[in-house]
Amino acid sequence: MTANTIIPVLINGATEDRVSSLDRGLLYGDGLFETIAVSNGEPVYWSRHMARLQAGCERLGIPWVDADRLADEARGLLQGVDRCVLKIVVTRGTGGRGYRPPPEPQPTRIIQRHPWPDFPARCGEQGVTVRLCEQRLGYNPLLAGIKHLNRLDQVMARQEWTDPDIMEGLMADTNGNLIEGTMSNLFVVQDQVLITPELGRCGVAGIMRAAVMELAGELPLQVALRDFGMTALLQADEVFLTNSVIGIWPVVRLGEHSWPKGKATQQLQQRLADLHREGNRRHDQG
Ligand SMILES: Cc1ncc(COP(=O)(O)O)c(C=O)c1O
Repeated sequence: MTANTIIPVLINGATEDRVSSLDRGLLYGDGLFETIAVSNGEPVYWSRHMARLQAGCERLGIPWVDADRLADEARGLLQGVDRCVLKIVVTRGTGGRGYRPPPEPQPTRIIQRHPWPDFPARCGEQGVTVRLCEQRLGYNPLLAGIKHLNRLDQVMARQEWTDPDIMEGLMADTNGNLIEGTMSNLFVVQDQVLITPELGRCGVAGIMRAAVMELAGELPLQVALRDFGMTALLQADEVFLTNSVIGIWPVVRLGEHSWPKGKATQQLQQRLADLHREGNRRHDQG
C-alpha cells in the first residue's frame, strides 16, 4: 500500500475523508486511537479495545462517544471483509486557537479500514531481529498506559532505521529501563517467570499484552510486572513482542546477541492460536 492509497473511512458516520483544520486531534494530538485486528469479519478483542478507548477518554476529559455507535459504524465498514485492520480515532473535535479545551467538546470519530499487513509468516514462526532505539521515552504518569495520539517518540524511533530485516526497535526510558517496542509490548522469560515492564510512567498498556498475561496464568507460568534493563534482557531465556495485529513475535536477535525461540513463547503462541480457532467469543471475555 502506498501512502496515497485510498482506504475506506467514515468520519462521524459519513463516508468522507476530511477533518476540519481546527480539529484538536490534528492541532495538538488531543485524542486517542485503537488499532484492531479483524478476523472472520469480527473485530478481535472489541470490548477490550473499547474499554481502553473509554478509559483514555476519561483520562483526557473527552466525552465518551458511545461504543454502540462505534460498533455500528465499524460493522458498516467491515461488510463482506474477512480479514483487515480497523483503526478507530477519537479526538476532542474542533476548537478555537489555543490549548484550552472547548467547554462542550463534540468529539470527532474516525474509522478506517486498512488491508491486513503483509508481515512475513517467518516473523511469528522463526522470530525477528530487533534493534535498540536511541530515542528514549520520558516519564508521564498521567498519560502512561492509554493510547493517545501524541506518538512523536515512536515516530522519531521508527525513523532511526530503514533496514527491512529489522522488524522492531526497542525503546528504553530516560533511566535505561526497557519499556516496549515502537509498536509493541516487550516480554522476557527468565527462570520460568514471564516478566513485562509495569508501564506506570510511560508506554502503552497493550490489549495483546493483557491477553498474553492471562494466557500465561493458564499455562501456568508465573507473571511479574517489573522494570528491567539491557543486562537482564541479554540474560533472558526468551524474549518476545506483542501487539493486536502481530500477536506474538519471538525476538531472536539484537546486534550480536541471539536468543532461541523458547518453549514458553511457543506455548503462548499455541494458546493464542487455539483461542483464535475457538472464535471471538472467548477473546472478548473480560
Ligand atoms: C507504542 C505501542 N506500544 C504497545 C502497543 C501494543 O498495543 P496493542 O496490544 O493494544 O496492539 C502498540 C500498538 O500499536 C504501540 O503503538
